[in-house]
Amino acid sequence: MLNIRKNLSEYLAYHDSNNHEFTEEFRSFLTEFLYESNNEGIGGLKYINKEDSSSLSLTEFSKFSRSRVSVRNFSNEPVANNILYSVVEVAKSAPSVCNRQGWKVHQYSNKKDINEILIYRNGNLGFTGTIDKLLIVTGDAKAFTSCENNQIFIDGGLFSMNLLLAIQAAGLGACALNTCYPLSLENKVKKVALISKVERLIMMIAVGCLKDSYGVAYSARNPTKDILIKH
Ligand SMILES: Cc1cc2nc3c(=O)[nH]c(=O)nc-3n(C[C@H](O)[C@H](O)[C@H](O)COP(=O)(O)O)c2cc1C
Repeated sequence: MLNIRKNLSEYLAYHDSNNHEFTEEFRSFLTEFLYESNNEGIGGLKYINKEDSSSLSLTEFSKFSRSRVSVRNFSNEPVANNILYSVVEVAKSAPSVCNRQGWKVHQYSNKKDINEILIYRNGNLGFTGTIDKLLIVTGDAKAFTSCENNQIFIDGGLFSMNLLLAIQAAGLGACALNTCYPLSLENKVKKVALISKVERLIMMIAVGCLKDSYGVAYSARNPTKDILIKH
């Protein structure tokens, strides 16, 4: 709410300084909302110097981005609990429609819970036993209107990518696991995983510590010329 007030306050100031007229009714509605409580908070504009806009070169980012691969076999070492908090703290910088941030991450550490949740899917059968933490990224349907039908998955996907990169930066291994369930099965999984009915499953992420040496699938990428289509 503070954020909205600060943004609206900037909006009003911008219009006033450019002599744009509001109807009296709209102005008084806005002002009443703005000053009904303290509007100090985070929001409005911030200015960034071009040279400060990125701290990584494309070469450095390329090296980091390409170092992320799906890991499907983890060491026995447990993942420190607080590290995932820091990882989520970083991942939440992902963009979202109107900054809705309609995402949540459910974390499971107990082997029995992990097994019970994963029993409904196939793509992890070979390595379920080595998963130390299971994350389920969900989107909160309440954050979106009925016209924004796919946005929950777009925002959730962007957040999940940031989460995977943050996990990589934290020195952990991870593998995204799809949640391509029919709706009836999705509801079953949500019940077992204690996830609210208003959330939609975006993806699961198996997390674990890395072995000293480990094999990963070589997953070739399509040529860039087939992806970037210049018009
Ligand atoms: C949404 C999503 C769902 C995925 N589901 C599975 C899965 O169920 N099982 C699995 O082993 N890998 C899964 N993957 C991992 C992909 O197979 C993998 O990302 C892809 O082959 C590219 O390999 P890389 O991650 O090593 O670059 C999934 C990836 C994504 C993005």
